[in-house]
Amino acid sequence: MPFQLVEFLELLQVAQHLEVRRHAPAQGVQRVAVLQHRYDAPASSSPGSLLDSLRLQPYPSHLVQRLTLGDGTAVTIRPIRPEDEGIEQEFVRNLSDESRYYRFRDAVRELSPRMLSHFTRVDYDRHLALIAVSERDGREIQIGVARYVAADDRQRCEFAIVIADDWQRKGPGARLMQALMAAARAAGIREMYGEVLASNHKMLQLTARFGFRARFDESDPRVMQVETTLGQT
Ligand SMILES: CC(C)(COP(=O)(O)OP(=O)(O)OC[C@H]1O[C@@H](n2cnc3c(N)ncnc32)[C@H](O)[C@@H]1OP(=O)(O)O)[C@@H](O)C(=O)NCCC(=O)NCCS
Repeated sequence: MPFQLVEFLELLQVAQHLEVRRHAPAQGVQRVAVLQHRYDAPASSSPGSLLDSLRLQPYPSHLVQRLTLGDGTAVTIRPIRPEDEGIEQEFVRNLSDESRYYRFRDAVRELSPRMLSHFTRVDYDRHLALIAVSERDGREIQIGVARYVAADDRQRCEFAIVIADDWQRKGPGARLMQALMAAARAAGIREMYGEVLASNHKMLQLTARFGFRARFDESDPRVMQVETTLGQT
């Protein structure tokens, strides 16, 4: 048997084994995807999904864009990479309590190794994260991140976004949101939705500006469900 085929079959066995484990109803087995405050967020659970996620997607460099904020700061928006674990963790640690609460809903002070890995090792297919970075003292700092996770059928995706406190109200939120929506639309996703706390006026204004409809969550009046149709590219 050719060597590559053996390797492939071995990989397939590993994937099937993992898939079986993932669906095992054992106690303590958590679902994998994390988007917002929930640790069991909208990931799919269909049997093909892990095999799908093992498909290697090339780094989508066409999503890299350079821009200048209103105050003249040069910023790059780019898809996240596994090597960004350090700047992503530093970014979350530096968030104010309010921003952290609006983004994660609980007292997440820093990301666990599992969340950090999930947030930075995206598949660029069903799960995409775009970060905004700038240079300070000769090194790259993360000033914001926006991500979506799509359902298996890629018709709908859930999004989340957060901007570093010092950089809020300078335009990165709108630029990241615009870039994320364009990427989702280009990937053929038709609808984008999210949960926003009803007290989060900044985010509700931002989503309204991008055409999202908002309605109160039937089961929790503190939460607004926002949703928009992405249309065709
Ligand atoms: C909400 C958030 C993403 C906005 O990002 P931002 O970079 O400050 O937003 P921008 O500077 O690009 O402003 C875009 C729009 O957002 C709205 N906005 C931003 N700050 C606002 C504020 N203080 N009051 C009211 N509206 C505000 C406005 O509609 C604004 O458009 P305008 O400048 O034309 O009025 C940011 O405040 C944030 O990260 N908050 C904490 C985390 C969070 O709430 N995440 C959402 C959960 S999914």
